[in-house]
Amino acid sequence: MKVTIDGIPIEVEPGTTILNAARQIGGDVVPPAMCYYSKLKDSGGKCRTCLVKVSKGSEKDPRPMPKLVASCRTTVMEGMEVQNITSPEVIEARKGIVEMLLVNHPLDCPICDQAGECDLQNLAFDHGAAKTRYEFDRRKFEKIDIGDNIQLHMTRCILCYRCVFVADQLTDHRIHGILNRGDHSEISTYIKHAVDNDFSGNMIDVCPVGALTDKTFRFKNRVWFTKSVEAHRDCDKCAGKVTLWYKGEDVLRVTGRKDVYGEVAEFICNTCRFDKKKTEDWVIEGPRKVPNTSVMNSNHYETLHPLPVVKTNLVLMEANKEQFERETRL
Ligand code: SF4
Ligand code: FES
Repeated sequence: MKVTIDGIPIEVEPGTTILNAARQIGGDVVPPAMCYYSKLKDSGGKCRTCLVKVSKGSEKDPRPMPKLVASCRTTVMEGMEVQNITSPEVIEARKGIVEMLLVNHPLDCPICDQAGECDLQNLAFDHGAAKTRYEFDRRKFEKIDIGDNIQLHMTRCILCYRCVFVADQLTDHRIHGILNRGDHSEISTYIKHAVDNDFSGNMIDVCPVGALTDKTFRFKNRVWFTKSVEAHRDCDKCAGKVTLWYKGEDVLRVTGRKDVYGEVAEFICNTCRFDKKKTEDWVIEGPRKVPNTSVMNSNHYETLHPLPVVKTNLVLMEANKEQFERETRL
């Protein structure tokens, strides 16, 4: 099927979502995704960060879709035309989504282990407002230990459901989920029943924020001070392909190998993640390529790279005004 995203045409298989069509193009036209995770079935549709404008429904019915749609849940139609960063409406909506996600999310970044690799931190930098309009008390939760190796900070959770899908699809049986409704929603403490499973540690990798953190790595270091290398070992439970995060000679943590969208290539077992923290446990392959969307890549927070169309269109310049101003200040 032929589809056009931000003026860039691409041919994709029927049934492909707009988000995945955009990922096949790559670069700036790819909408951000906080809850969709390609390796987890049924994920997506929760956070609304991937909203796009369908300016032409299809060749047969060229009417635009009346509202912005979640690109992770909307499949392409023949001749569909989609706008992401070329739509001021989408940019405005995304700012609103970030503001809403931050209503309850504490700005813990200076002490949060996820800082530097947090999707919400990056999203807030690109689309967040400088000031909050929220005046009420924020939700507060006690920290919960989920077994020996994982800690849940419910205050940071954005209810993306990814960890629920990990428990559902990678562990023997799901015993946890999101309890209550609306402002009272929370990841149930029943999550701790899933910890005995060999794959529970993957909840840490899929969590887009710092709500689920690795207790063996907590407060050990900032990720941008660590050196990451790809390594593998013969493992009878998983593929054994990981990223090792070094400080000097010490392996501070082990994670799955994440791609440019922050998704792991293959889920890893808890033995590889928590018990193999010596260089001699691993065959080192070489340095990990750090995607340029990462704060770990130097200058990420100093350089804005708008598409040429944004620089030549007054309406889009206006929509990106705050980002340009911030760029000037930096
Ligand atoms: S704990 Fe993390 S992965 Fe689980 S729902 Fe909350 S934000 Fe998503
Ligand atoms: S990524 Fe599409 S709604 Fe969250």
